[in-house]
Amino acid sequence: MKALRDTFGRQITYLRLSVTDRCDLRCTYCMAEEMKFLPKRDVLSLEELERLAGAFIDRGVKKIRITGGEPLVRRDIMTLMARLGRRLEKGDFDELTLTTNGTQLHHHADVLASLGVKRINVSLDTLDDAKFETLTRRNRLSDVLRGLDAAQAAGLKVKINTVALKGVNEDEIPAMIEWAHGRAMDLTLIEVMPLGEIEEDRVDQYLPLTAVQDKLQARWTLTPMEMKTGGPARYMRVEETGGALGLITPLTNNFCAGCNRVRVTCTGEIYMCLGHGDKIDLRAALRGPNPDEALNVALDRAMLKKPERHAFDITERGAAPAVSRHMSVTGG
Ligand code: GTP
Ligand code: 5AD
Ligand code: SF4
Repeated sequence: MKALRDTFGRQITYLRLSVTDRCDLRCTYCMAEEMKFLPKRDVLSLEELERLAGAFIDRGVKKIRITGGEPLVRRDIMTLMARLGRRLEKGDFDELTLTTNGTQLHHHADVLASLGVKRINVSLDTLDDAKFETLTRRNRLSDVLRGLDAAQAAGLKVKINTVALKGVNEDEIPAMIEWAHGRAMDLTLIEVMPLGEIEEDRVDQYLPLTAVQDKLQARWTLTPMEMKTGGPARYMRVEETGGALGLITPLTNNFCAGCNRVRVTCTGEIYMCLGHGDKIDLRAALRGPNPDEALNVALDRAMLKKPERHAFDITERGAAPAVSRHMSVTGG
């Protein structure tokens, strides 16, 4: 079957599949405290999600990352993971993984490992209880730490994702890197992106990673690495700790030329780019006659719409143009 290729010649081999828009945290840079979540009937069933993932696999997708909201708050999520795990085992694709906030990880770590998941990414921006509560509006740091212990005990390789936030975790970044590397976890820093209306001003949150890297370089030796995970991070080894540090820099160092991914929401909308509002409805294809054929036609249409790059911008004058959808709709 024909590979998924956009008009810039980029092949899509990475699907980020969101299974819910709900989350048990309320990170200030991601959501407002009061969020309107989707009614259940709009959300794809397990069977629909599985069929959708299958359509992408048939078109050459090799990596599937399950996202949310928080994917582990969806009650039947492990059934989907198990079904996709069987296709992974058959060699139909190469990697099945998950990005999670970690609060429920201790319930699922063993099962994830048994399904063939090798590594997971866990979002964690601070190790300070009070800061965690301010940042996520929930007091759940101890649950996340318990989840990390369980994941590592189950043999999962863990990468920590940390959004760099001016004046919030800025001073804690070196300590977090030391902590993660000391526990044999890699850590990736992410620049905050202007998605969705939140209560704070993005300009106040934004910390360019160029500045962070300069500071880290004054303290440590950072050696660029060849490591490739298929995601947008550039990795370097921190010689003093022996661990890998990733930088995801949509604002200071654009990586769109190498883009290999699309995102599908839990209602079956495909977004061709995190930084654009353009989408195509795959649910209608799924729920109509001849779903497999209709999905393929819709995917071909989607490829024609993938933009060359995002248009995020944050300067002292403001954060524009913001996409009105929240990050929790596409799961990052
Ligand atoms: P690996 O497989 O470990 O490389 O993970 P990944 O970086 O592909 O996935 P993860 O869910 O850990 O992504 C971390 C964050 O990077 C996301 O939440 C986004 O904030 C950001 N990110 C990932 N892909 C893109 C992208 O295509 N464009 C932009 N602008 N940001 C992205
Ligand atoms: N900018 C950058 N990263 C964000 N995330 C959520 N909102 C934003 C944003 N506005 C991150 C979370 C998590 C992943 C799912 O997306 O911290 O790592
Ligand atoms: Fe690709 Fe868009 Fe991400 Fe850029 S922002 S890397 S074009 S998905």
